[in-house]
Amino acid sequence: MAITPDTKMDLLISLCKRRGFIFPGSEIYGGFANSWDYGPYGAQLKKNIRDAWWDRFVLRRGDVVGVDTPIIMNPKAWEASGHIATFTDPLVDCKKCKRRFRADHLLEAKAAEPGYDKEKPVDLVGMACPECGGTLTDIRYFNLMFKTFVGSTEDTTSVAYLRPETAGGMFVAWKNVRDTMRKRLPFGIAQTGKAFRNEITPGNFIFRTREFEQMEIEYLCRPEDAPKAFEAWLGEMKAWVTDVLKLDPSHVVYREIEDADRAFYSARTVDIEYMYPFGTKELYGIANRTDYDLSRHQEYSKEDLRYLDPETGEHILPFVIEPTWGLDRSVLAVLAEHLDIDDAPTADEGDAEPRMVLRLPPLLSPVKAAVLPLQKKGGLSEEAHALADRLRSEGIAVEYDESGSIGKRYRRQDEIGTPWCITVDAQTPEDKTATVRDRDAMTQERIPIADIAAWIAERLRT
Ligand code: GAP
Repeated sequence: MAITPDTKMDLLISLCKRRGFIFPGSEIYGGFANSWDYGPYGAQLKKNIRDAWWDRFVLRRGDVVGVDTPIIMNPKAWEASGHIATFTDPLVDCKKCKRRFRADHLLEAKAAEPGYDKEKPVDLVGMACPECGGTLTDIRYFNLMFKTFVGSTEDTTSVAYLRPETAGGMFVAWKNVRDTMRKRLPFGIAQTGKAFRNEITPGNFIFRTREFEQMEIEYLCRPEDAPKAFEAWLGEMKAWVTDVLKLDPSHVVYREIEDADRAFYSARTVDIEYMYPFGTKELYGIANRTDYDLSRHQEYSKEDLRYLDPETGEHILPFVIEPTWGLDRSVLAVLAEHLDIDDAPTADEGDAEPRMVLRLPPLLSPVKAAVLPLQKKGGLSEEAHALADRLRSEGIAVEYDESGSIGKRYRRQDEIGTPWCITVDAQTPEDKTATVRDRDAMTQERIPIADIAAWIAERLRT
């Protein structure tokens, strides 16, 4: 039974709900549009991706430092960054059904229609509501930032914003990082955390939501080194996608953004897109933001944000290469890429049945190993509990399960992406060995209990 792109999202959303990865948000109150709760396995999968990112790009590099800045900052920061004036989406409303659309999405859909004359500019003139055929309003611009009030009064002096990206906090903290960390250019500042955008058309499960998590780096360098640093970070992003998320490179598109479509301050932008089941859309991005951000913050804060080159004595405003990763989109791409249905043998010799399996990279799997006693009697429960405790004490995420047939227990672990199931059987008390079943190959290997933690740790390193 093959999974088709048409059925994949439904299968994925129902698996996520059924197996404790991602639930509809606020469900007991009837839900809340486009909000999602990460359940125990989803939260762990997300954390494993975030940890792998921090480990790879902060801990294992001498040229990147991490920070953690507030979600609510001085609103002047968003004035300086241009978000208050220009962080908008163009929207149109249907006068009949009152639905709201992003004008750029309607234009993209029209340009993608079969037989559309690519030479003709696409415009909204004469376009009707795609839902009911009603007349559309003119375009209006809608700021995506969530406004709030800080303190006990609700007036213009207390207006503040939830950050629409984590990047802003790093530019604002740059002066203090520069003054305390004694780093030489080129070097980067990294941050992970929540960002908020009042999206007009959220949707496609966790692809576009109003609250999401980003992992971003602002890599500062001399202006003449920016093209080289851009290439290096693009290479790092490609390696992340294949080595950590294990996405098939043919499912990822690197789209060079044309001059006319780039933000005016960007010298180069590449969008990194993934072939989600609902279409090829943005996963990550990377931009050469020149010295735009630091020069704007310098102007608005009146602080000197230049870098003093200790060798040449020059004061320079660094250029910034900004690779940016969406964490929720990473979760979605990993789940979509690795969801599979194949045939698994049943208890009847020679017979097979379809099994759903999440072939997650072991490093990212929420549970690394399940310990399953073949039966409760004969001291097998005790042996298995002792093994599970031993693995936990080594920092390995383990689940213990003794209920139901062994086949059902394997299926459950396959669906949550557990790479190894360790079966404790009648031989275990005698020779202190257990069998380890591989999720993907479905092969079994007998291993001394004392060696299992090291066996798993070795495989998590690759
Ligand atoms: N600092 C640059 C920046 O924020 P962006 O392309 O607007 O760039 C970066 O966002 C990444 O954040 C995207 O590539 C995507 O992965 C993620 N992202 C953006 N909006 C999102 C949303 N509404 N829901 C989920 N993820 C989103």
